[in-house]
This record gives sequence, C-alpha cells and structure tokens, in this order.
Amino acid sequence: MRCSPGSALPARSGALLALLAAPALLVLALLVSGPWRLLDSPMPPSLMRELEQREADLRRLAASARAACAFSPAAGALGCAELSGATGVRLVGSGITKLVQRAVLPRGGGHEVALKSVHPAGRDVSLCAQRYAHPSGCYRLAAYKLLKEMVLLQSLEHPGVVKLRGQCYDPSLVPEMKVVTVLELGVPLEMIQLLQTPWEERFKLCLELAELLHYLAKSPLGSLALLDFQPRQFVMVNGVLKVADLDDVSTEELSCEGHGDCTLEFPTKSFSLRCSAQGKCEGINEKRNLFNAYRYFFTYLLPHTAPFVLQPILKDILNATGDLRYGTNETLRAFHRVLHLYKSGLYLQKKPSQLKDYIALKGFHSRDTEDYKCWPSYRHLGCVLSVHNEEEAAAICSSHPQCQHFFITLQTTWTGRPLALFRSNLTELIPGGDRVVYVKRSAASKTSLLQGDWENTELSDKE
Ligand SMILES: Nc1ncnc2c1ncn2[C@@H]1O[C@H](COP(=O)(O)OP(=O)(O)OP(=O)(O)O)[C@@H](O)[C@H]1O
Ligand SMILES: *[C@@H]1O[C@H](CO)[C@@H](O)[C@H](O)[C@H]1NC(C)=O
Ligand SMILES: *[C@@H]1O[C@H](CO)[C@@H](O)[C@H](O)[C@H]1NC(C)=O
Ligand SMILES: *[C@@H]1O[C@H](CO)[C@@H](O)[C@H](O)[C@H]1NC(C)=O
Repeated sequence: MRCSPGSALPARSGALLALLAAPALLVLALLVSGPWRLLDSPMPPSLMRELEQREADLRRLAASARAACAFSPAAGALGCAELSGATGVRLVGSGITKLVQRAVLPRGGGHEVALKSVHPAGRDVSLCAQRYAHPSGCYRLAAYKLLKEMVLLQSLEHPGVVKLRGQCYDPSLVPEMKVVTVLELGVPLEMIQLLQTPWEERFKLCLELAELLHYLAKSPLGSLALLDFQPRQFVMVNGVLKVADLDDVSTEELSCEGHGDCTLEFPTKSFSLRCSAQGKCEGINEKRNLFNAYRYFFTYLLPHTAPFVLQPILKDILNATGDLRYGTNETLRAFHRVLHLYKSGLYLQKKPSQLKDYIALKGFHSRDTEDYKCWPSYRHLGCVLSVHNEEEAAAICSSHPQCQHFFITLQTTWTGRPLALFRSNLTELIPGGDRVVYVKRSAASKTSLLQGDWENTELSDKE
C-alpha cells in the first residue's frame, strides 16, 4: 500500500503513529490532568506547561512524519505481550533520561534486544522531582523524550540508525505511564579501544558516520541535527556504527532575519552561516553534525597509522570538515575516493619488489602457537595484518626484524583485503595442507631444517 502525503493513515500502518493520532494522545493528556491527581500532589502550573509543550512538539513531529509518509509499518512488531515474557534482563547502560536493559524475548527470534525506559533515578527525573515535588509528572515529562525517540526511529531508515523492533505503551499502568521501546542490541563505543584497532577498521567507522550524516541531512523529516553529539550516543551492532540516542534531535533549521542570526558556536570555534530568503539558517543542522563528527571522531580515528600515500587526502578531509568547507556530500565523496584508492592498492608506493627476497613454498602450515606481536594486529597472540597482495606482505615482513615467513590467509577484512600472518619461528613450520608460505631467503639459508624440501616444492611462478 502506498502512502501519499496528506492521505489518511493506511489501515495497518505503524502502530505508534496510530497511537499518536488524537485518541492516544488524549490518553496522555488525560494522564496529565486525570486520575493521578488523586494519588499525587497537585501539579504545579509550570510543570503542566512543560508537559503541554512536549506534547505539542510530539504531535508536530508525528504529523510531519505522517505527512512525509516516513513511517515503517514493519517497525515495532514486538509489543507489550512479548515484553511480559522477557528473560535474562540485565542493565547495559543509563543516561540522564533513560535506562537501557538487555533481554531475550520469547518471540524476538531468540536474539537479545535492548529495552529502553525512563530512568527513574536519572538526572532528568530527579532534578525535576526536586524542583516540582511531583514524581509522576516528572516521569511523564521524561517519557515524552522516549516517545519522541520512538517516532524518529520509526521514521528514519538507515543502517546508521539503530532499528526499532517494537514498543510497549500501556496506559493501564497509570500512574507510572509505562513506555518501553525495543531496539536492536548494540555495544557501546569504546574510544580508547578503537584507537588501538587497525586503521582500516577506524576508517570504516568514520565512513559509516559520514554516510549517516549524509542521510540525516536529507532525511524524510528534513535536515536533522543531533544536538547531543558524543561517542556515547552511538553503539556498534554487528560491527556497524549506529546512533542509538535520538531524543535530542532538532528537525528544524534555526530561523533568522539576517546573517548575523546564524552563528554556529562550538567551544573552540564559531562559524557564520547564511540566512536564506526563507528565513532559515542554511544548512546549519548539517554543518553542526559535521563539525561534531570532525571534533569527536575524525580527528582521533582517521589520521594515525593511515597508509602513507593516503595521509594527504585524509588531512584534506580533516581540514575541510574542521573548517566546514565541505558539506556531507563532499565529505562522503572524499571518503569514497579514499576507499577506492585503498581497495585498489593504488596507495601502494612504487618500490622495488621485495617478493624476490622470499621463497614461496606450497604445502606448509604453521603450528597455532604464540609468536611475535605487531601493532595494530587483528589477533592478540601474533602479528596479523591486512594486505593488498603478497608484494605488500613481503614489504611488511622485510620491515619487521623478527619476521622470517608469512602466509596469506583466506580471511578477508570488510574491504575484501586478505589477512596475512607474519611469523618468526621457522621451526614451527610443518608440512601439510595446500597453503603457500613465503620464507625469507636469508632465513631459509640459515636453517638446515627442511633444506631438502625447499627445492622440490618451490613454486615456479613466484619469482
Ligand atoms: N540499542 C542499544 N544497545 C546497547 N546499548 C545501548 C543501546 N541504546 C543505548 N545504549 C546504552 O545506554 C546508554 C543510555 O542510553 P541513551 O543514550 O538513550 O540514554 P540517555 O538518557 O538519553 O543518555 P544521555 O544522558 O547520554 O543523553 C547509552 O549511552 C548507551 O551506552
Ligand atoms: C586548514 O588549513 C589552513 C591552511 O593551511 C589552516 O590555516 C587551517 O587552520 C586548517 N584548518 C584546520 C581545521 O585544520
Ligand atoms: C548533495 O547532493 C544531492 C544529490 O545527490 C543534491 O540534491 C544536494 O543538493 C546536494 N547538497 C549540497 C549541499 O550540495
Ligand atoms: C621455536 O619453536 C620451537 C618448536 O616449537 C620451540 O622449541 C622454540 O622454543 C621456539 N623458539 C622461539 C624463539 O620461540
């Protein structure tokens, strides 16, 4: 069924949007002014006003999602019934507003999911409660953030946005207006750990971030800014970077009367943007995201230990995003250029071949024992690096004093490059299998071991 802007909701469209249509919000409104009064002290007018404001924001967002036909009927298949059978519930994280737990749902396909709910002891609720002495009102105030995130998650569809698997909204659980969202479970980003991963993996993360920002700049809901842009708002799901906290998002660009109104301020820097004829600060949301990506991600993850030839291009990307000369289009294009150069091996410098210093022997493998380590290795107990081909592996082996032989394994990285295993101890080499080992000639001549075999098995096509 197609949705055309302005048409009525299709019968089986997203449960949440149906929920956000008038009757359900009426329920929320009733909660605000309704039976809870009997249980709680009277609600202070200022808290009431805040609640009304949040509700109005939420209605607006839901209306624009509806108008853009930007909801996914498939999202949110899991509901309250599934939640009641949750097992193995454990805390995974908490923030100012929300509590995140992991759990297995009986009908969730056996996979673990993340359950988000209001954090009753979080700063949002507790500061509000201190101020207004009205816990249930404060709880609802926070629940609006969760609902906002739910609408956004249901409207955005991108690999870089965490997937909504379901939601539970149970007004019968008054006065604790119970809202729970079910999301795919991720692993929080560990910047320190990331800094120790190979450049190729850090580049992947930056590329995925660039793709996300490119999408957000042209999302179905308009150009979105992540107002609270920090590594802790992101998680990794199956090795893919995803934004997981969307309650603090602006879907509107700043209004202005003149260019002077359009200053984008950061602690270290500010930018003057243009005020468009429509009275909006042009591209301010896109630029805000991009500068945040530069200062929190690119500067740390992109440059160090990058292949030498790619370094000037990466420096350009850093300079252009750090000065906001690039938008998300140009940034993404530059990332794809780097990826192309990297995948095609064009970044390799033309150097005299070092492969001739190695003898290629078929039919050997290595005992799976500890050996010398290198950095940043794909394995902890040895030296495993991604390479373009045997030639690059030979150059790497020659640059490691300990390296005496190497294998090209069948394992590949996300770019399709094979992993090479670099080893020192030749006595660990044993006959068998059909893999090719490349042995340093200088090392081969030093050892008498297997000496007879060298000549017989040497590959004629590898000189
Ligand atoms: N889908 C998920 N899978 C795993 N962990 C998650 C997921 N979503 C969030 N988290 C973790 O839970 C923490 C809190 O979630 P979230 O950021 O949504 O709450 P918040 O109250 O808005 O936080 P903040 O104070 O950072 O704004 C996150 O920092 C993150 O580490
Ligand atoms: C970009 O390069 C210019 C010229 O070298 C320099 O003045 C500027 O500070 C650089 N900006 C960033 C963010 O690195
Ligand atoms: C980015 O590219 C898209 C098409 O791919 C285009 O519609 C859009 O106007 C471009 N944005 C900018 C700021 O150049
Ligand atoms: C090399 O391997 C042999 C056989 O496993 C072992 O006895 C020896 O200690 C190893 N040498 C080094 C330097 O690791």
